[in-house]
Amino acid sequence: MAKIPAGVGPRFPQVVVLVGATGDLSRRKLLPGLFHLCSAGFIPDWRIVGVSLDDIDVEGFKAIARNALDEFGSRKTSPAAWERFAAQLDYVPLAAGAPALKDAVARAEASLGVECRRLHYLSVPPSAALPVVRMLGEAELVERSRIVMEKPFGTDLASARVLNAKLHQVFDESQIFRIDHFLGKEPAQNILAFRFANGLFEPIWNRNFIDHVQIDVPETLGLGKRSGFYEQTGAYRDMVVTHLFQILGFMAMEPPTSLDPEHIGEEKNKVFRSMLPILPGDVVRGQYSGYRGEEGVDPDSDTETFIALKCHIDNWRWAGVPFYLRTGKRMAEGQRIISIAFREPPKSMFPPGSGVGAQGPDHLTFDLADASKMSLSFYGKRPGPGMRLDKLSLQFAMTDTGLAGEVLEAYERLILDAMRGDRTLFTTAEGIERLWEVSQPLLDAPPPVRLYEPGSWGPKPVHQLIAPHAWRLPFERAWRNPNKSGG
Ligand code: BG6
Repeated sequence: MAKIPAGVGPRFPQVVVLVGATGDLSRRKLLPGLFHLCSAGFIPDWRIVGVSLDDIDVEGFKAIARNALDEFGSRKTSPAAWERFAAQLDYVPLAAGAPALKDAVARAEASLGVECRRLHYLSVPPSAALPVVRMLGEAELVERSRIVMEKPFGTDLASARVLNAKLHQVFDESQIFRIDHFLGKEPAQNILAFRFANGLFEPIWNRNFIDHVQIDVPETLGLGKRSGFYEQTGAYRDMVVTHLFQILGFMAMEPPTSLDPEHIGEEKNKVFRSMLPILPGDVVRGQYSGYRGEEGVDPDSDTETFIALKCHIDNWRWAGVPFYLRTGKRMAEGQRIISIAFREPPKSMFPPGSGVGAQGPDHLTFDLADASKMSLSFYGKRPGPGMRLDKLSLQFAMTDTGLAGEVLEAYERLILDAMRGDRTLFTTAEGIERLWEVSQPLLDAPPPVRLYEPGSWGPKPVHQLIAPHAWRLPFERAWRNPNKSGG
């Protein structure tokens, strides 16, 4: 087992109360993530109390956890590591109520035998979040605890305020960790490193040099069993007001005074404060053909499975620079990119037909896949006589460095941070309320959804939205495969 550097894990053993323990997110990400953190030695000691609506016993929960690791774990599960992990699992059906939960946590703490901390992870639908919070209060599990909350944090400004006020009746703001797993992705944090650790790009990171920015996250997957959740949510609340705006915050913020959580949070919130309201005329909502026929979907559903929009940050750095955001389900490709288009030079000395500018402006592109990739495209001379120009690129892939194996998955990183009390990569109540505020014009008068074919890039008006520019995706030139020579 690799040695874990001192200080990266929590100081105290942890009792994790995992609510929604048998649900989709828990099986896909949380149980495999907790297993990795525990078995790789990041956490000094731990107990996990699963809670869910399912009327099962601890053996039933262990079977679900084991299947989840087999199906979704990205690493091998050795029999010894599984035995050690399974021995620390307990389970309480939600129907057993606060007293049973209190007893289970007391048993877990007694078996740890030393001072420990509690991490409540709420992986539950929005309607269940407050009842669970009240139950944790009744079970007297607020002390020595932190609570991780999943989005959506409300559905508009009014409901977000109510949610925050009710949460604060039980937990102090300092105990609440609102998770946005896009911020736990290595490449998202690498945006900060790239911008602020290098002298090369920060001087040109502004309206004088940058023409526009795209944050584009098409997905090929459909909704599977999530239609109940998604019908109430839609692409804007599921992806934009959460993940895409948070990435925008990192991309656009001013240099923070330090990397301390409050300094980063403050700069991110300043970006959100400068955002202009999202106008319905700057938004294209789409729905893939066939969505209304899916199980659990209203046959007249107006829920968008696709959204593209233009937004503006009205401050000194970004005034006049449009930010284009797009995401959707059942699209042509699964990608997560940020693409920065630089302003073009006059090019007046190049002869007609040289090709300069013919393939769009220079771009800096970040790929937000778990192991980062980056590319800088530019015009260069095609070898041979005359002056013909081609679009060329410098590319970097983390997989080239041999360090890709060290990558923690986003949820692993964020669970570990919450256990350590590090809020740097979590969102704040203020930031979220502001994002709902700028969303209000759109929420009040959403444009009608337009159908798009599954496997496409969205409904047609998406091209008018970005004109005179064009969407970077699909790429004209694919990422080079670093393992293939001459690629
Ligand atoms: C989740 C959304 O938060 O993020 C899903 O609810 C989406 O709808 C997912 O598919 C995308 O995350 P990732 O890490 O797979 O890109």
